[in-house]
Amino acid sequence: MAKAARNTFVCQNCGAVSTRWSGKCASCGEWNTIVEEATGVGAVPGSGLARSSKGRVIPLEGLKGEADEAPRIATGLSELDRVTGGGIVPGSALLIGGEPGIGKSTLLLQLSAAIANRNGTAVYFSGEEAAAQVRLRAERLGLADAKVGFAAETNLADILATLADGPAPDLVVIDSIQTLWADALDSAPGTVSQVRAATQSLIRFAKRSGSALLLVGHVTKDGQIAGPKVIEHMVDTVLYFEGDQGHTFRILRAVKNRFGPTDEIGVFEMGQTGLTEVTNPSELFLGERDNKAPGAAVFAGIEGTRPLLVEMQALVAPSALGTPRRAVVGWDSSRLSMLLAVLDARCGVTFAQADVYLNVAGGLRIVEPAADLAAAAALLSSLSNVALPSDEIYFGEISLSGAVRPTAHMASRLKEAQKLGFKRAVVPAAGELDVKTVGLELRRISHLTELAERMGACKGRPGRG
Ligand code: TYD
Ligand code: MG
Repeated sequence: MAKAARNTFVCQNCGAVSTRWSGKCASCGEWNTIVEEATGVGAVPGSGLARSSKGRVIPLEGLKGEADEAPRIATGLSELDRVTGGGIVPGSALLIGGEPGIGKSTLLLQLSAAIANRNGTAVYFSGEEAAAQVRLRAERLGLADAKVGFAAETNLADILATLADGPAPDLVVIDSIQTLWADALDSAPGTVSQVRAATQSLIRFAKRSGSALLLVGHVTKDGQIAGPKVIEHMVDTVLYFEGDQGHTFRILRAVKNRFGPTDEIGVFEMGQTGLTEVTNPSELFLGERDNKAPGAAVFAGIEGTRPLLVEMQALVAPSALGTPRRAVVGWDSSRLSMLLAVLDARCGVTFAQADVYLNVAGGLRIVEPAADLAAAAALLSSLSNVALPSDEIYFGEISLSGAVRPTAHMASRLKEAQKLGFKRAVVPAAGELDVKTVGLELRRISHLTELAERMGACKGRPGRG
């Protein structure tokens, strides 16, 4: 009798394979992530070849040669085109991850319809929702007439057979990769080997046929795409669709892109009729501003190539605790600690007896160091209980010495602020800037103390904290 297929134990977090089950993965240290998976014949996808096959000699080529600029499928959704670098590349594979309910299925249905409406062909496989649910959504979005091929299907072999039948579509959507299962494997859908096998087969189809492949991926509690990083390595582009459930806007962000930039974001707003593109996001993020409250400062940021104005809000309150609280939403908490230390050591403004809360309005996440100055302004404003001028913006990186360092794209930040009706700006003293072209009243500072003094928050004048 042939030896029964041996089972292996695969960590669902990192993909490490072991021969025994254990409670803790020896490779990544996660608990309860090891699952028994069958390694039947063909379990290693792509190993369908007879083992004895010698392989053939591949003709090697030089790097120079015919390399056309990758053609693009312009999707008609300009925010999506912006993120992908000008449209989806035929034959490429994209993975889109995001929290449940954020709008992935909505986005992809709208995308499929947009491509179909531009005389392309789009096929949508849903493994999560029944046909009736998807139809209902299409109805609601006003897309029921779009010529999108749809099927509620989770069997990989059937999907591949369907795709191979007839001309290859321009776009294939799989919602989601975790629901697919391959017959050849014994393990449950969503396990590492199933997801890997399904992804690999689909990518192979896409590369061969020239269809663009869009995979939806689930995310784990901490926001990573479920399954090991392997999937992210396999695809050409990894997009995250994020946003705050309490807010209507959604951000599409590329974290990996073999065919374009990774620093652009696309902004959408979720409404009654699905996602609409937001071409001027600053207006959205500043929309609900309360101008007169102390502790709010407008930061002129840059996302990719596009300026983006957001409000940073701080609250400094007397603390009843021995160790005061520091809480941050939308910004790096170690960056806040650093800023508080700099304010203390270099400007003599202490927050030692105060709880400090910092929030980026609208649920946006800011990673730019240039936000330091806006955060400092918000903190100082809350501490001294003096509202900042409502028509003023801030940007500049603060170094550990308290110096305000120049940032890139000063002109476009200022231009955006001017467009939105701001009159004044507090900006770094250093850095090239053609003052004549800027219609804002500039206050160029080189050290944080200049801001602290102006706010009356310096030593000798105790703040409220
Ligand atoms: P969905 O695309 O199903 O999310 P995902 O696939 O990422 O899980 O989006 C579901 C949410 O979007 C749901 O909470 C309702 C909301 N929604 C709207 O607000 N307006 C709409 O037109 C649609 C279709 C959905
Ligand atoms: Mg969905």
